[in-house]
Amino acid sequence: MNGHPSIESEHRFDVIIIGGGISGINAAYRIQSELPGYTYALLEARDSIGGTWDLFRYPGIRSDSDLFTFGFSWHPWNQDNPIAEGGSIAKYMKETAKEHGIDKHILHRHRLLSANWSTADSTWSLNVDNDGVEKNYTARFIIFGTGYYDYHTPLQTTIPGLDDFQGEIIHPQFWPEDLDYENKKVVIIGSGATAITLLPKMAEKASRVTMLQRSPTYILSLPNRNTNLLGLFLPTTWFRKIQRISWIWTSRLFFLFCQKFPWLARLILRLSVSRQLPKHIPHDPHFRPRYNPWDQRLCVCPDGDFFKSLHTGRADVKTDTIDHVTPDGIQLNSGDKLDADIIVTATGLKLQIAGGANISVDGKKMSIPEKYLWNGVMLQDIPNASFVIGYTNASWTLGADATALFITRLLKNLESRKMIAATPKMPEGSQIKQRRLLNLNSTYVSVAEKNLPKAADRGPWQPRDNYISDYLFSQYGKLDDCLELTKGPSLRLRAKLQ
Ligand SMILES: Cc1cc2nc3c(=O)[nH]c(=O)nc-3n(C[C@H](O)[C@H](O)[C@H](O)COP(=O)(O)OP(=O)(O)OC[C@H]3O[C@@H](n4cnc5c(N)ncnc54)[C@H](O)[C@@H]3O)c2cc1C
Ligand SMILES: *[C@@H]1O[C@H](CO)[C@@H](O)[C@H](O)[C@H]1NC(C)=O
Ligand SMILES: *[C@@H]1O[C@H](CO)[C@@H](O)[C@H](O)[C@H]1NC(C)=O
Ligand SMILES: *[C@@H]1O[C@H](CO)[C@@H](O)[C@H](O)[C@H]1NC(C)=O
Ligand SMILES: *[C@@H]1O[C@H](CO)[C@@H](O)[C@H](O)[C@H]1NC(C)=O
Ligand SMILES: *[C@@H]1O[C@H](CO)[C@@H](O)[C@H](O)[C@H]1NC(C)=O
Ligand SMILES: *[C@@H]1O[C@H](CO)[C@@H](O)[C@H](O)[C@H]1NC(C)=O
Repeated sequence: MNGHPSIESEHRFDVIIIGGGISGINAAYRIQSELPGYTYALLEARDSIGGTWDLFRYPGIRSDSDLFTFGFSWHPWNQDNPIAEGGSIAKYMKETAKEHGIDKHILHRHRLLSANWSTADSTWSLNVDNDGVEKNYTARFIIFGTGYYDYHTPLQTTIPGLDDFQGEIIHPQFWPEDLDYENKKVVIIGSGATAITLLPKMAEKASRVTMLQRSPTYILSLPNRNTNLLGLFLPTTWFRKIQRISWIWTSRLFFLFCQKFPWLARLILRLSVSRQLPKHIPHDPHFRPRYNPWDQRLCVCPDGDFFKSLHTGRADVKTDTIDHVTPDGIQLNSGDKLDADIIVTATGLKLQIAGGANISVDGKKMSIPEKYLWNGVMLQDIPNASFVIGYTNASWTLGADATALFITRLLKNLESRKMIAATPKMPEGSQIKQRRLLNLNSTYVSVAEKNLPKAADRGPWQPRDNYISDYLFSQYGKLDDCLELTKGPSLRLRAKLQ
């Protein structure tokens, strides 16, 4: 054997990564470049990689973050549009995986069902479903790049009378490829990024599209091209690096500005929105959120497309609450009624960590919502496993990469100290106060937070902060605070394969 056995026939790996989304692909790159001697495989439940950007197919699906920071730092987004369509993000991810040889490590249609750590063997046993065929794998370390929501079940919304509706009810997560909305009346329930993306796109064909919101969201229009004079002078690789760093700092400073001067941020956003609204749609109440900018995620709309569509007369915003759904529309609490042929429920995702797999340690099932997240990267009491959870108030990828960098450093460090297992442990009698993991209180995050791991107010159990401090932590932070280490002989597979 030459050290590169066929991935199909191998069942034992140093590291197994679950999920071929942005987190999994990024982790794969970090493992293969930082730990070139390690064997690894990436198990992906679906037919193709891309994760979110492959699953979501609603009209206009696009990023909300700029691609300069959402893209991989080691393979920068090389187009000039900061906001990109879902399909082009998925394509970028596929091309990147191919170019870096990550695709050779991917096993498609391999869904992880359960993972069981055995203390006696210091290994994980993975039970995987491959198109109905059961497969077992073993790994020394698992990285869960499974995202943060359930791929199969949408968030259950309780909209009274929804079952009586005679038209079509669509959830954006399961958009029917052949949905015909030409000349139809559409009501989109929700005011998040999805609703704001859908409205202008559907209004191109539908006879009328109404976004029905309980409460408004901040919307920031952004010119969707980023031509920069520096690009003419600098070598491309330099230019892309500088561009990425400047976007990291700009978003960080904008966030800090919103936190420090909420009144000023509110005023600026208000002026910018008012300027773009048609006369018949007043700013208040439709565009006056109850919270301050960045208390919840701020929505971005490229080139003001959302506002432009409000000028066409085919798109509208309604701020009201639902009394009940009727067979042909929605009866609102104000007494108004919205007629509808199609209702789109853009009301959020069902949060889930670890892709629904059952995780156990020596046969004992671990309940993720009961565990604290250690340094944002591992879970209390679960040995040798990392859970990639990116940011929600900055590009997810930045957080995912801070995790991957920390993990590769931890693996190198502990291996050199001949440690065979690392398990975050909460010291007896810790006086910690619980804090929320994701600091955004969007409705669905609050509702579903009970499915997420816990965070606390101190020590390595605090929620993560921002990329700049997390990056520094990944390089220089304390590795073994509240981390229980087990010494033993190296079980590295490389030695055996050569
Ligand atoms: C519509 C939408 C728009 C978004 N826009 C942005 C944005 O602009 N900026 C931003 O930062 N974030 C955005 N997000 C959040 C987004 O999900 C993350 O940014 C990012 O794509 C998550 O990447 P991931 O790899 O962690 O997870 P995902 O993209 O969800 O990928 C997870 C992968 O794991 C696989 N998987 C899951 N369970 C298993 C299992 N048991 N076995 C094997 N494989 C499994 C899935 O099939 C999938 O391929 C958006 C989310 C949605 C839904
Ligand atoms: C996890 O375990 C529960 C109960 O033991 C079972 O119902 C469920 O199907 C399992 N999940 C998977 C993905 O196998
Ligand atoms: C996989 O492992 C389980 C539990 O250890 C075992 O029952 C099963 O037979 C194994 N399946 C295969 C295909 O090896
Ligand atoms: C969001 O949460 C913060 C702190 O938990 C709270 O002060 C604020 O009022 C909340 N905002 C909304 C809109 O719920
Ligand atoms: C998990 O491992 C323990 C021993 O380490 C074993 O008793 C148990 O049967 C295993 N469970 C599964 C589901 O493989
Ligand atoms: C468990 O992970 C640590 C790093 O966290 C690593 O040093 C060790 O080798 C792993 N255990 C095994 C059995 O490989
Ligand atoms: C995200 O929110 C946390 C918690 O409020 C904050 O500390 C952090 O600075 C924010 N991140 C960014 C990138 O602004």
